[in-house]
Amino acid sequence: MFSLLILPGDGIGPEVMTEVKRVISWFQDKRGLKINIEEGLVGGASYDKHGIPLTEEMLRKALEVDAVLLGAVGGPDYDNLRFDLKPERALLKLRKELDLFANIRPAQCFDALASFSSLKKDIVSGLDIVIVRELTSGIYFGEPRGIHTDGSNERIGINTQRYTESEIRRVAISAFELALKRSKKLCSMEKANVMESGVLWRDVVNEVHADYKEVELSHMYADNGAMQLVRDPKQFDVIVTDNLFGDILSDCAAMLTGSLGMLPSASLGNKKVNGLPRAMYEPVHGSAPDITGQSKANPIACILSFSMALRYSFSDLKNADLLERCIEKVLAKGYRTPDLMMGDNGQLCSTTEMTDKILEELEAI
Ligand code: IPM
Ligand code: MG
Repeated sequence: MFSLLILPGDGIGPEVMTEVKRVISWFQDKRGLKINIEEGLVGGASYDKHGIPLTEEMLRKALEVDAVLLGAVGGPDYDNLRFDLKPERALLKLRKELDLFANIRPAQCFDALASFSSLKKDIVSGLDIVIVRELTSGIYFGEPRGIHTDGSNERIGINTQRYTESEIRRVAISAFELALKRSKKLCSMEKANVMESGVLWRDVVNEVHADYKEVELSHMYADNGAMQLVRDPKQFDVIVTDNLFGDILSDCAAMLTGSLGMLPSASLGNKKVNGLPRAMYEPVHGSAPDITGQSKANPIACILSFSMALRYSFSDLKNADLLERCIEKVLAKGYRTPDLMMGDNGQLCSTTEMTDKILEELEAI
């Protein structure tokens, strides 16, 4: 029996998670999936009840379970909160405390959606790349940080980009391992032309390469990487990069696929005593306050995040493949949530109807 902690969070998080729970129930009822589910509050939802975005109890639970599935955090109601009380701090604390250093963000363009990308169809059709983003260090966590006032009463905002060799090495190893399982091509991105942390990053990635000679390694400055991603994204297979560049490049890669509403992610740490990696799964999209409560949210990114949990935490490749195939079929049949309707004559679906279609497809198999 595996254990999964579900943290729906804020905005459209609870809406899409309601749909994921229907999908999980289907696998429990029809495919004998054995998962014990617990649910909790995170982000603004936790702040509203407990006055903090993540309670110690919830953090302890997240450390105990086999995997966490998170919806989204944040929203305009919380914009003016003190920095340490903001919903996003919960996400960062979970990543840090669970030591989830390797964030895997696949950007895959479903055939049926190739014409939705803002890029030309032939540039994105068949696209299948993965960004491995370092998630527990770099400028997101480096010290010193803060807003200080200097002698002449001028305020100074400070953040620090900081990486140790071992932090770079472990995420590089994750990326090389992933590249081995795919087309054996890895591109590492940093700014070694202006940042010492980038020089070290490049050095350490080269050192790790010695153990992965069969992988073809290239290096790119991150700004050029951003340009290449929109010029010719299919030149890449696996990309490894730091926390901040990974945040930006993964949003960019997401849009190549047509919609941010399609992309899942997995954040993985070291293996625990039971052999499973510490893991948290979440859609790449945020809490989308502009469409919250209107049944417009696309549940697919969150459903695919569950599919990644099946794959990486529960080693259930069969059910993961099945779920992904069914989603592809539903899209091929033209069912679309509003984010996928651009200039298309597909059939408009609400959040719930999209899940209905996926469940129908699962039933039909
Ligand atoms: C992401 C998000 C987060 C990040 C925010 C919500 C803190 O943009 O997961 O990409 O910056 O890491
Ligand atoms: Mg982001």
